[in-house]
Formats: sequence, C-alpha cells, structure tokens
Amino acid sequence: MKVLVVGTGAREHAIADALKNDVELYCYMSKVNPGMSKIAEFKQGDEGEVEKVAEFAKENDIEIAFIGPEAPLEKGIVDELEKNGIKCVGPCQSAARIETDKSFMRKLFEDYEIDGSLIYRVFDNYEDLSEFLDDFDRDVVVKPVGLTGGKGVKIVGDHLKDNNEAKEYSKEVIDNAMGGFAQVIIEERVIGEEFTIQAFCDGEHLAPMPAAQDHPHAFEGDQGAITGGMGSYSDADGLLPFLTQEDYDKAVKIMEDTIKAIAEEAKPYKGILYGQFMLTADGPRLIEYNARFGDPEAMNVLPLLKTPLIDVCKAIVDGTLGEVEFEPKASVCKYIVPDGYPETEYAGELIEVDEKSIEDMGAKVFYAAVGLEDDGIHLSGSRALGIVASGESISEAEKIAEKACDYVKGNVYHRRDVGTEELVEKRVAHMKEILN
Ligand code: GLY
Repeated sequence: MKVLVVGTGAREHAIADALKNDVELYCYMSKVNPGMSKIAEFKQGDEGEVEKVAEFAKENDIEIAFIGPEAPLEKGIVDELEKNGIKCVGPCQSAARIETDKSFMRKLFEDYEIDGSLIYRVFDNYEDLSEFLDDFDRDVVVKPVGLTGGKGVKIVGDHLKDNNEAKEYSKEVIDNAMGGFAQVIIEERVIGEEFTIQAFCDGEHLAPMPAAQDHPHAFEGDQGAITGGMGSYSDADGLLPFLTQEDYDKAVKIMEDTIKAIAEEAKPYKGILYGQFMLTADGPRLIEYNARFGDPEAMNVLPLLKTPLIDVCKAIVDGTLGEVEFEPKASVCKYIVPDGYPETEYAGELIEVDEKSIEDMGAKVFYAAVGLEDDGIHLSGSRALGIVASGESISEAEKIAEKACDYVKGNVYHRRDVGTEELVEKRVAHMKEILN
C-alpha cells in the first residue's frame, strides 16, 4: 500500500518511522528531513500548496495520506485530497476548526455542554475587552483566535504582568489581526499541572494514547521563553505520576464528547485529536485542542505502538477503529536545539549526529528543523532533533536519552532536567499542593 506523509518535522519523522516497514512510503516536505529522506520517496515543496500535494499524491497512486502539521489542514488539504479520491488521516477543513478557530472550539463546549471548559470571551474591540477586564478579578490568558505557530498566547503572571498588560496585548492582537482574525479570545487562567492526551479518531470512535507531559519553557527549571516544547515524557501505565486513572478517563470523556459535537456541527473528525489539559483542583480543564499529533509528544507514543500504525490508519479511514495497543513502557524525549534558542546566533552551523551510537544505546533520533547539505546537517534557528528512549520507568528512559544526547556535537543545548526524578517529583508535589 502506498502512503504519503505530509510535513517535515520530528513529528512527521516519527509518523514515517512507524509506517516505514509496512508500506511503500512517500513524503511531501517543505525542507528535506535527513531522516525521512532516507526511508521514503519524497518531493520537496510547500505543504500548504494543497493542489500540488494532491497532484503528487495522484501521480504516485497514493491510497492514504497522513497529514502531520496544522497549517495545511487549515488550508483544506484533506478536502482537496479526498476530492481526488485519496483517503486521509487528518480532519477536513471544517472539522480542523477545533484547532484553527479557538472561538469555534469554546462555543462548541458551550453549545454542547461539554465539561472541562474555561470562562472565556471573544472581543473584536478594545472598549468592550477593557470593560470586561476591569471587572474580571482573576488573571487571564490572551489568545489570538487563529493559528500563530504557538507564538501568540500570553499569560498573566508569565509573559504579562497583570490584566492591564493583557489589555494592551489584546489590542495588538486585534489591530494586527494576529492569526488571521481581527479578534482576541480572553480566558480565565487556571492553575495546575498540564498534560497531553492524543487520540486516534475515525469520525465516531476514539482510541486514546498514553498521556504525556511537555516542557514548553526553553531553559532548565521551567525558566525562559515558552517554545514549541523542549521535551516530554510518558509513563509505563499510560498515566503520569500526578495523573490518576479517574482524571485520565474524565479527559478522554471530554474528547469523546468533543468529536460527537464536531460531527454534528461540522463533519466527522478523522485523524489525531490532541487535547492539552490542565489538571486543576476541579479536575481536568481543556486548555486547547490541536488537530494533529503533538510535537514532541508524538515521539513518546509512536515508537511504543504495538498495533501497526498502518492498521490504525486503515481503521481511521474506514471508520472501524477499535482499541489501539501500546508497549507498557515509559518514554522520555529531549529536544536538541541551537545554543541560546529561541534567540540563537548559531543558525546555519554544522552539527555532528552520531546516529549509530545513539541507536546502539537503544534510543532514536527524529530530525526537526535542520538543513541537509553536502557537508552534513546544519542548524536552523529552531529545534533541531528529538532524542527518544524508552524503559521500564521514566527514570530509566531518561538516563538513556540523556546519555544519547552526548552523541550530538556542536553549539547545541538540551534540557537535562526533562524526565529526571527531581523534576517529576516537583510536578507531583505541585499537584498535591493544589489538591490540598
Ligand atoms: N507540544 C505542543 C504542540 O504540539 O503544540
């Protein structure tokens, strides 16, 4: 069977890696990914030019396309591919609004009385939002309504000093139509521990994956700028050390109710649903949805799949999704980034990646935003590669991942604390404090 993976990052490399032994693999990518280019026929091109992707898929008799990133979903890549007879793992444009239009998402929770939402308001002018914030006695989070590549969200108490700064930033979001909407969404800020649940969806059924926790801050000790994610871990029982089965089940129920509502409101949701939750004293609250795998979280779960990914893809497109099985192992992913990231001066520099030694240790390399040139692999200004290891415990996986990071040489950095016992215990203690 011929399968096309669309996208170029570590998330797509992990998808391609999970498919490579069972299919004839093709990739469509904006930059040549050094890992994917070794295991697939590929074309370099803008993934957002959806007609061109469909043309490539038709020329190569692709049967299933797996869409990695959100940007082509927003452009309607699935609608275009399906028009051309190609089945897709990824939601159509109207269903992808669960990620691409945050006011659609919150309204869905309201209209269908789905649990776990937040107090929110959408504004298109400064006067109304200013009046609302003057009366609102809690910290808020300011979000552009549309996609901003993870860079538009600002939190009072983190990036913003107080609700007055939130007003100023909200005005900027509206005036510049950040994310493509001249609107801003203001949400209450909730306190707790964040966690991710990703699920396969066939339009009707949902098969949830092990929970994971990402580390969005650039530096150790959760300091520095919020980034696309510096690493993540998952545990052998599918839960997290601070997350109970009951909380996990509540979060999955929220996701199940959401796909039912999307099917009513838009079209059946086929693909991956990524739920980012905050575990609060009141249980899980939904922070946001993505219409795709998480990055780095895809790298935690995909290498642990026991059910072949191609079987899951066939079940998604056919609407026959059942249970999906994973190895009962913990995993840790550490992202290698240029020194100084996100404000790096090392973009363009050559790095050395000793893939053989990393693999000999039982770890895996998934390439992200690097350039492949005749003399080797070059950094860009963004995350370079994810190193992933699994083990009987988070701590065992962490030790392997950490050692494997030594085999990447150059002006690079990674968070040594991701998955360490010390940091995991800090998370558990934080959650206990919130619950008491
Ligand atoms: N881990 C954050 C994201 O995938 O958007």
